[in-house]
Amino acid sequence: MPSEKFKLAVLVSGRGSNLQAIIDSIEKNYLNAEISLVMSNVKDAYALERATKHGLECVFLDPKAFSNRNDYEQKMIDLLQSKSIELVCLAGFMRILGKKFIEAFPGKIINIHPSLLPAFPGLNVQKRALEHGAKYSGCTVHIVNEEVDGGPIILQSVVPIKDEDDTQSLSERILEQEHIIYPEAIKLIIENKIEFSGRRALRNKQGN
Ligand code: GAR
Repeated sequence: MPSEKFKLAVLVSGRGSNLQAIIDSIEKNYLNAEISLVMSNVKDAYALERATKHGLECVFLDPKAFSNRNDYEQKMIDLLQSKSIELVCLAGFMRILGKKFIEAFPGKIINIHPSLLPAFPGLNVQKRALEHGAKYSGCTVHIVNEEVDGGPIILQSVVPIKDEDDTQSLSERILEQEHIIYPEAIKLIIENKIEFSGRRALRNKQGN
């Protein structure tokens, strides 16, 4: 008998290619998980179409329909808790989450970011890495805490920057790596193969 599936929620704002990578990993049985909810803060996010195509429950929550961030986040929390979500995966979710939300899912929110953190947190990071003259960039999966893009790092992948790169070519090569390491990081968490020592996420003995 297969063990019960781990319940994921995926929060999106746009194209949803990382959502697609998670869906594909589940459909290929790489992840023993199910996506119980896809949530978007953008009505016409293509990610919602992808979710619908795969028969996933999805919801658009309009931030403008709430008078403040606390009320908006409480609604998100209620929806996620009603589905007994075990891990919240931010996948191109372009909204900063507040204390209330983060405290509702302690250590259970992860994000994928298109730079080698702690270099280049924030927005437009592929362009900023190029303009800075960095020779390497990449992507990072990390735990979400109250510091933007600042939580403990679970996995990273390095992408060399070529002289001929522009923002688009670099972003595309980083994205290929995102689609590999995001499912890998989720698998490590689902299989309980990570333990924390301060800021460091370490493979525990089961992770050998
Ligand atoms: C990805 O590159 C992701 O790393 C980035 O947005 C893109 C979403 O693409 N996220 C951030 O910059 C968060 N700070 P997707 O919608 O195709 O997954």
